[in-house]
Amino acid sequence: MVLPGIKSSTSPVGGPDIIPQFGVTKGMKVLVQLGSGSFGRVYKVQNEAEEVFALKKSKLNPKQIEREAEMTSLASRDAHPNVILLHAQFSVQEGNDKYQYLLIECMEMNLGQLMSRHSETMAEFGQDKAWGRAHVPLPHDVSNKLLHGILSGLTHIHSLFITHRDLKPANVLVHARNRVAKICDFGSAKVIKPNDAGSSTYIVSRFYRAPELLLDSTRYDQKIDVWSAGCIFGEMLNGGMPIFPGQNSVDQLVQIILQKGSMTMTDVESCVGMPPTPENRAAWQSLLQPRPAQPWSARGMPLLSESDERLLNSLLMYNPDTRPSADEACSMMVSHASGAPTRKASTTPPRQPRVSSMRRDRDPKTQILDRILPQQRSRSREPHSIRTTK
Ligand SMILES: Nc1ncnc2c1ncn2[C@@H]1O[C@H](COP(=O)(O)OP(=O)(O)OP(=O)(O)O)[C@@H](O)[C@H]1O
Ligand SMILES: [Mg+2]
Repeated sequence: MVLPGIKSSTSPVGGPDIIPQFGVTKGMKVLVQLGSGSFGRVYKVQNEAEEVFALKKSKLNPKQIEREAEMTSLASRDAHPNVILLHAQFSVQEGNDKYQYLLIECMEMNLGQLMSRHSETMAEFGQDKAWGRAHVPLPHDVSNKLLHGILSGLTHIHSLFITHRDLKPANVLVHARNRVAKICDFGSAKVIKPNDAGSSTYIVSRFYRAPELLLDSTRYDQKIDVWSAGCIFGEMLNGGMPIFPGQNSVDQLVQIILQKGSMTMTDVESCVGMPPTPENRAAWQSLLQPRPAQPWSARGMPLLSESDERLLNSLLMYNPDTRPSADEACSMMVSHASGAPTRKASTTPPRQPRVSSMRRDRDPKTQILDRILPQQRSRSREPHSIRTTK
C-alpha cells in the first residue's frame, strides 16, 4: 500500500526539497494506522531503507493553517528526549483539498493505551476472577519515570513559551520498555508570553482542564499544562481512570472542588485574574462554600505513598501563581526520589491483584511489560534512528 500524494511527482509543496533525504519520494509503505484524532490520521510508514516513521496527515483548514507544523517544529528544533521529534513537514494538494503531512519519530503507543493494556494484562494475571477488568495502577517506578519525562518535556517547551494546551494521555507517546514519555500533538499549542493579550479558554480536553480555564480566565499561561500533568499523574495512580471525569465544564469544576475542597478568595482571584466585581461576587460564593478536601482514597484510588500524594497535590494547586512550574515540579521529584517512598499505614489493603503462584518465580512486572509490548522482543522492528544529510 502506498500513501497517495507522497510520490515526488504529486507532492508539489515542500516535498521534493525536504523528503528525499528520507527516501520517501520513491514511495512509502504504510504499515499500519497508528491512530486518528479530530483532525487527522497517523500512519506507521516505512521508507525503502526500511526506516520506520510516523506520518500524520491532516486536512488543512484555513483557520489553523500550519499552526501545528509551526509549533511542532519549534518544540522539536533543539531535540529534547521528551518531545516528539519532527523530521519533515510538507503539504500536498489532493483534488480540492490541501493536506499537511508531518513526518515524526515513531513511538509504540500512547499513554492511555499503555494504562489500559497494563490493567487488562494484570487482570488476566490475577487469580481472583472477581477482579475482572480491574483498573490497576502502573508500577510506582514506571509512573514516576513517565511523569518525570512529561515534566521535563514541558520544561523544554515552556522555556520557549509554548503552551501545549491539550496535554492528556493520548497526547503523550511512550516506549514502555524503557519508560520514555514524549509529548506530541501540538495542534492546539500556542506561544504565550507574559504580557500577551488573552487567549481562547476553549482548549484542553475537559478532564485535564485547569481551574483558571474553567473559570474562563483568558490570561492563563504555561501553568495550565502543569495542571494537566497532575491529572495525568493521578490517572496513572488511579489505574487509568480519569481523576476528575466531569460531564461538562461546570461539573468539571464541581468534581474538582468535591475532591480538593473549597477554593480560597486568593485562589479564585488568581484563577480569574482579577478581584471580584459586585456582579460576580454572588457566583464566587458558591466556590468559597466551606468544604473539606477528601482523601484520594475516597475516590477509590489505591493508597498513595506520601511523596506521590504530596507531588499530586502540588501539581493540582488551584492557584496558578503557587502551582509549581514544570521545572520546579521536576526538581521536587528528584528531591523526593532521594528518600525512599514511605507507605502510609492503612486499615484497608492496597488494591493489587494477586499473582498466580505458578508465576511467582518470575518478576511479574517484566512479564507484564512483555505482554504489553510483544513486538519489543524483536529489536529489528524498533524504529531506526535517522541519519540526516544536513
Ligand atoms: N509519532 C507517533 N508514534 C506512534 N503513535 C502516534 C504518533 N503520533 C500519533 N500517534 C497515535 O495517533 C494518535 C492521534 O495522534 P495525534 O494526537 O497527533 O492526532 P490528533 O488528530 O491531533 O488527535 P486529537 O485531536 O484527538 O488529539 C495518538 O494518540 C497516538 O495514539
Ligand atoms: Mg491528539
